[in-house]
Amino acid sequence: MAHDPEKLFGYLEQTKELYGNTIYLENPTAENPTVNAEGLAAYYNEICNCQLCDLGKTRTKFVFGIGNPDADIIFLGEAPGEKEDLAGEPFVGRAGKLLDKMLAAINLTRDDIYICNVLKCRPPKNRDPLPSEVEKCEPYLNQQLSLIQPKLIVALGRIAACTILKTKEPLKELRNKVFSYKGIDLLVTYHPAALLRNPNFKRPAWEDFQMIRDKYLLKN
Ligand code: URA
Repeated sequence: MAHDPEKLFGYLEQTKELYGNTIYLENPTAENPTVNAEGLAAYYNEICNCQLCDLGKTRTKFVFGIGNPDADIIFLGEAPGEKEDLAGEPFVGRAGKLLDKMLAAINLTRDDIYICNVLKCRPPKNRDPLPSEVEKCEPYLNQQLSLIQPKLIVALGRIAACTILKTKEPLKELRNKVFSYKGIDLLVTYHPAALLRNPNFKRPAWEDFQMIRDKYLLKN
């Protein structure tokens, strides 16, 4: 929607010509996809120098997230690793390459989805996130979700899933179920690094991705 009064007037004149006196209000992000992109960029600038926990002292780069700001699906990892910390981008290492292949198998590319982590900074030696770090970082994820408004979150691996669902269940209990996080559907699947370590997980992971495709991509 135009914010400039002159443009707004022009827009109203034009719609009056087309539709008469009825005004049809559209979803502003559907009409103008840059709304989400700008919102995310502004939010990145707001938080990228974060020092709320000690990871701010040891990180190389803040890893905000990447992908389509209007994505329907967000893939969520636990925290940046070494390569991600250097690049400032999530999932750029071997696990990321495998994730790209899994996405391609259901006709998705990184341009269709959004990828981020629960923690935005790398824990030293890739240790698990501490509850105090999650407490500080989770509001950043929540704000990203409210800007992007996805229909589905896919938690990659037990740590990402358990961290945000506040559970200690094993991964096999979490797969094949639809959870809700902040009102958004959430599915849990294997972390691609786990598939690299144990190729036996590739078959069930493929089943999870088929479920994502069938339930969230082939609708309508
Ligand atoms: N593992 C994750 O959970 N996230 C990344 O960004 C990379 C590896």
